[in-house]
Amino acid sequence: MKKKRKLNKKAIIIVSIILIILLIEIINPIKLYNKHQLRELNYSNSSIDTILENNLKDEVLEIEYNKTLDTIFSSSDFNKNNYSIYKDLEYYDLENYTKNINELIKKGYVATDINYILRSATNESLKEFLDHEYVSDISSFLQYDFAILENYDRYVAYKEENNIENELVVVYVNIGLDRDFYTDPETVTTFSTDMLVNKYNGLEEDFVPDDLISVPEDYAIDSEQQLNETVFEAFKKMSDDCKSNTSYKLLVRSGYRSYESQQETYDLYFDAYGKNYAESYVAHPGFSEHQTGLAIDIKAESSNVFAGTEESIWLMENAYRYGFILRYKKEYENITGVSYESWHYRYVGEEIAKEIHESDMTYDEYYIRFLSK
Ligand code: DAL
Ligand code: ZN
Repeated sequence: MKKKRKLNKKAIIIVSIILIILLIEIINPIKLYNKHQLRELNYSNSSIDTILENNLKDEVLEIEYNKTLDTIFSSSDFNKNNYSIYKDLEYYDLENYTKNINELIKKGYVATDINYILRSATNESLKEFLDHEYVSDISSFLQYDFAILENYDRYVAYKEENNIENELVVVYVNIGLDRDFYTDPETVTTFSTDMLVNKYNGLEEDFVPDDLISVPEDYAIDSEQQLNETVFEAFKKMSDDCKSNTSYKLLVRSGYRSYESQQETYDLYFDAYGKNYAESYVAHPGFSEHQTGLAIDIKAESSNVFAGTEESIWLMENAYRYGFILRYKKEYENITGVSYESWHYRYVGEEIAKEIHESDMTYDEYYIRFLSK
């Protein structure tokens, strides 16, 4: 009898211990605490599972929440061997993020390279780039934040042909200068005062700028001139101030030109001076800033020839204060593809005009460097 009671007691103790172990395993307070810490950092549940399964908790807790890691941890493509690279990667919103990163690592790219590649990529260009053999000095072009992965082979080819620094190679190829003018142009569809229209960025035939108004006759050579309203307001102020300073005002000789009227202008120059002249002074229809309502060919009140007048000298120093830039300078001819036009001013807004005035670069280059991404 006594023995039986003893046995029962033993059984109860064993069962209790098993129950306690089971309970601890199920509730697992340590695991719960770890999960809590990672959740506090904002990691998703599936990421937390991966982190704990791979014993990466301490390392992950050492750094702040990292969106790259959260994305990679919750992907089925997560590969523990690549963790040391993953943790140094910036996040970019690209398809098959983890899988593509694994492939780049397999090819031999290190974290810095991968960051440059992803920053410059689109889903399409990344897919194509993964078929490209390993490039050891990928950063020489992609280090610039305006670099475009899709253009990589063009950078290499342009560098071979031209002895210029890599940064300029990237700028020039992005403008399109490794190809003839009007080759593979982009179509610009949205009006904005900082839009880029040049020999690689064109407008559709029916593109009409916002807020077109007729320029009052006392600010134009005739009653036919039109401009975007903001541009006219800025021009009016500029013209008035020019008069106060030089005693001559500025007049609009040619403002907005429709696609058709640009064609007529081109034909007129072609017939009068021949193809070379027309090509270097008049844009093809669809590729003229005049179709944006943001450009003005200015007439000086004091003379019919613009260059050298008091008005033109005053403008070169002051136009930026009103948001205008001299668009086709002599030293820019190779970039703009347009011969020097002392009279063609383009409205870009005061902020950009000031930066361009101070840095002295073409609008084409400014756009690539600061506005294209
Ligand atoms: N004269 C400038 C280039 C134009 O036609 O737009
Ligand atoms: Zn013009």
